Amino acid sequence: MSLADRLAARHLQDAAPEVAVLDDGVAPVTPSGPEAVAGAGVRGSHVAVERPVTTAAPTSPAPTRTGDGLADVKARVLAELYERIGARINDPSLTEGDLHALVRAELAKVVDDQRLVLAQHERRTILQELEDDALGLGPMQRLLDDRTVTEIMVNGHDTIYVEREGRIVLSGLQFTDEDHLRRVIERIVARVGRRIDESSPLVDARLQDGSRVNAVIPPLAVKGSSLTIRKFSDTPFTVEDLLRFNSFSEPLADFLRGCVEAKLNILVSGGTGTGKTTLLNVLSSFIPADERIVTIEDAVELKLQQDHVVTLESRPPNIEGKGEVTIRDLVRNSLRMRPDRIVVGECRGGEALDMLQAMNTGHDGSISTLHANTPRDAIARLETLVLMAGMDLPLRAIREQIASAIDVVIQIQRLRDGSRRVSQVTEVIGMEGDVVTLQDAFVFDHSAGTDVEGRPLGMARATGLCPRFLSKFDAAGVEYDMSLFDPGA
Ligand SMILES: Nc1ncnc2c1ncn2[C@@H]1O[C@H](COP(=O)(O)OP(=O)(O)OP(=O)(O)O)[C@@H](O)[C@H]1O
Ligand SMILES: [Mg+2]
Repeated sequence: MSLADRLAARHLQDAAPEVAVLDDGVAPVTPSGPEAVAGAGVRGSHVAVERPVTTAAPTSPAPTRTGDGLADVKARVLAELYERIGARINDPSLTEGDLHALVRAELAKVVDDQRLVLAQHERRTILQELEDDALGLGPMQRLLDDRTVTEIMVNGHDTIYVEREGRIVLSGLQFTDEDHLRRVIERIVARVGRRIDESSPLVDARLQDGSRVNAVIPPLAVKGSSLTIRKFSDTPFTVEDLLRFNSFSEPLADFLRGCVEAKLNILVSGGTGTGKTTLLNVLSSFIPADERIVTIEDAVELKLQQDHVVTLESRPPNIEGKGEVTIRDLVRNSLRMRPDRIVVGECRGGEALDMLQAMNTGHDGSISTLHANTPRDAIARLETLVLMAGMDLPLRAIREQIASAIDVVIQIQRLRDGSRRVSQVTEVIGMEGDVVTLQDAFVFDHSAGTDVEGRPLGMARATGLCPRFLSKFDAAGVEYDMSLFDPGA
């Protein structure tokens, strides 16, 4: 018999005398029939979870799996705990240590009050599990601890998808109900000093380990709260990792290193979750150690290894709508920080104009990313972003700025097998009439087909067209091998 079954059975024996002393005056329901024997009757034997609760106190907390005899006991203990400590569980003024001490002490009292007959080690185990449930992140904790999971997507309390090895699969885990999910979301958000409620139902935040979190609750999320977590490992992918994943070939990696060393202005383009930030981090690792780097992000994701780095992060407005510091403000400010390189995590607004201006006024070697599916789309998107700066610039002027600022677009794609590959390396040549002219230097070879497991065998291969920006390599003294551009090599 498992610990769970034994606890449920013991609790059943204890349940009848114990419910008689409940202080809420609600008559207990005596368990009967096979339900009680199976342990499910424990829920029926105790009415605590059906008590009305205050809005501050979370309701009916939760086992993460059904069919677990211990789950019902835990649910009752947690319900009682929440009733006792209420909203203090999300009080950001309490340190983690204080909160754990508070919850530990209250839990011990509740377990004693429930008169569970437990051996010392069983008591320790159940208290630890309850503490994890009360203070941890429920089923999320398991997924966060699972190193093979890179992304967690909660569509509703009963649907949690994860990305494992590049593939998106249903996790099989669930929150008990919307309340349980909301409580976990509130905990995540409260830990970073933010709040989520009907008046501000969207939050972008980061977990302590740097993982990126986005939460949306009703009424915006129509079918129940939604939570997305992009996990970041403490040790980000290096160029060696990306080579191992076949994201690009070794000669192409050398060429990209050359592009960074020659201070080209680089735009990494890709769809959502294609690995733009990861590639940006790898490209940034090529920046020589003696250069001063200023990184600007909405939520810090980049992990540069160099010493001479200033990390800036934008700030959302406070509750009165004041105090906002945008990426755009930070890009402008960075120009006064004597940067050798400006690395902007992602261009998604008017900062695109300031980036272009910086690139055109002597801040070469800047790198950024944006969402687009092809290099041509990336240029079009950049135009739109510049328009968002609201300067009423004529389109032609914007295109000229883009053509003279950006040297190369590196396109990255997530292929059907979940792998991320550099699909194009495209030079921005200049203008022809009103059009920005582009020229591919490397293009993914789809004709190579796939192996037996469906993994593409292709790589980004040279088109045979030599980039004109090689003159910048020469000027910077960066060496390269001309055979790299030979399509037959
Ligand atoms: N080259 C790669 N090979 C395999 N997995 C990768 C690669 N690059 C990134 N990943 C994984 O893909 C996920 C998304 O990566 P990343 O955050 O860099 O994408 P992104 O394009 O910046 O996403 P977003 O559009 O949400 O900002 C991460 O879990 C990361 O570990
Ligand atoms: Mg990103």
